[in-house]
Amino acid sequence: MTLAAGTEPEPTPHATPETVPAHVGIIMDGNGRWANRRGLPRLAGHHAGTENVRRITVACADAGVECLTIYAFSTENWRRPADEVFGLMRLLAQRIDKEAAELHRNNVQIRHIGALEGIQPRLVDRIKAAVALTRNNTGLVLNVAFNYGGRAEIARAVQRALATGIRPEELTEEVVDRHLDTAGLPNLDLVIRTGGDFRLSNFLLWQAAYAEYYSTPICWPDFGREELYQAFSEFGRRVRRFGGLS
Ligand code: IPE
Ligand code: IPE
Ligand code: MG
Repeated sequence: MTLAAGTEPEPTPHATPETVPAHVGIIMDGNGRWANRRGLPRLAGHHAGTENVRRITVACADAGVECLTIYAFSTENWRRPADEVFGLMRLLAQRIDKEAAELHRNNVQIRHIGALEGIQPRLVDRIKAAVALTRNNTGLVLNVAFNYGGRAEIARAVQRALATGIRPEELTEEVVDRHLDTAGLPNLDLVIRTGGDFRLSNFLLWQAAYAEYYSTPICWPDFGREELYQAFSEFGRRVRRFGGLS
């Protein structure tokens, strides 16, 4: 996959890894620290971080990943200072404008998980337009977790299921699963966290039940194709037992 405008060519051709997860989730952490270390404002880190989304999306598509879920803004990130929150919203709006058409040309299907309530109407319209534009694409699914929290998603799924009129005893795991924002996506195989922490921070709580975890100290703006494929190789060496015996 190539993304034309503004895409820097990869310096050397990279062999794609042998084992490729179908669904990868990335907790894109460490933008602020990346900026701090360079004496830059935090928003410069977020800007560099959004640039990196393009690079990693291309690398995932090249490797044959079916779905990439990126954690862009959590329900808890509203606790940040208003100027950072506002800056993040503006960055997202700019990125959608910049990337949606190009992603569409590359057959990427853009999806959103999380709540659109409380988001500026103009931004909501842009998100909806990007999702609608790419709805029928058959390539990589780029699933953007924005204003997303795992607990809120589970509560929302239960509410949706109950609204169909089912009885309490009919509320099985499968029913909850079908009403999650991620309904229809492949099972989550691998969660990558950049920035060095070892926690989910409310990301895909339900879906991560049997996902493999990979944490790297590299901050998100510096996490490139090489590191991504290293994570895939490590994933390929893991023994997944799903509670059984191997
Ligand atoms: C992650 O980077 C991006 C978002 C949460 C939107 P941070 O902003 O959390 O960066 P650090 O953790 O402060 O370095
Ligand atoms: C997780 O990063 C959320 C996103 C990457 C969007 P945070 O920086 O918000 O996580 P905590 O606060 O360190 O747990
Ligand atoms: Mg952080």
